[in-house]
Amino acid sequence: MLPLIAGNWKMNMDIDQGAALVFRLRDLLRNVQAVEIVIAPPFTSLHHLNHLLADSGIKLAGQDLFWEKSGAYTGEISGEMLKSTGCKYVIVGHSERRQLFGETDETVRRKVVAALRHGLKPIVCVGETLDEREAGKTLSRVRTQVSGALSGLAGSAMKEVTIAYEPVWAIGTGKTAKSQEAEEVHNFIRELLHELFDRESVRNVRIIYGGSVKPDNIDELMAQPNIDGALVGGASLKAEDFARIAGFQRL
Ligand code: PGA
Repeated sequence: MLPLIAGNWKMNMDIDQGAALVFRLRDLLRNVQAVEIVIAPPFTSLHHLNHLLADSGIKLAGQDLFWEKSGAYTGEISGEMLKSTGCKYVIVGHSERRQLFGETDETVRRKVVAALRHGLKPIVCVGETLDEREAGKTLSRVRTQVSGALSGLAGSAMKEVTIAYEPVWAIGTGKTAKSQEAEEVHNFIRELLHELFDRESVRNVRIIYGGSVKPDNIDELMAQPNIDGALVGGASLKAEDFARIAGFQRL
């Protein structure tokens, strides 16, 4: 499986700023090979940026979706709409959605199902808070989130799914989990997938890490056996930083 490096722009970049970033990225990422690169701009820029990304190999992701197909859901965006902008991926259950917008393991599950129904590859985010880590509850929290998000899925759907382990205390704080700490949880998620599905179906599921990923920690993170990529927030807004992350050195 190719490593996946995804940039989550969050609520940053208007259309012109996004276009400028994409031009820089196209240039800087031209020679990066054997890595799948995805960016998740705000909904309002997706259609425009899709044209600017043509032939670049860089793929688009939505930052969220709603599970209904259409209807009276003011403010929501469906999987079908994302698909029509050119998205291939969608981030689901980001901790900011869980903390600020009341998402639960059940809403995350419904969104994963909707993404798959519309041919979008979900990047399912899980991760413990600082309180949970300090109380020794990291693995039980992650277990609940992963099994909740994937419950009822057929093994055959798993080839489309990516899991992003993002410890909440490491997001936007400059504190990265030590690569060994992250690896421990990634390994736990890998074992959990083997428990929930047959081995063959989950062989190529990527488990990517997120939380203050930067040019100076990506190489060490990617050297861990169960870290298959990164979900990058802040550093994805700087073309040089994101390009360095996507072009990580294999140690
Ligand atoms: P960060 O965000 O890289 O700014 O910590 C990561 C994320 O929220 O996906």
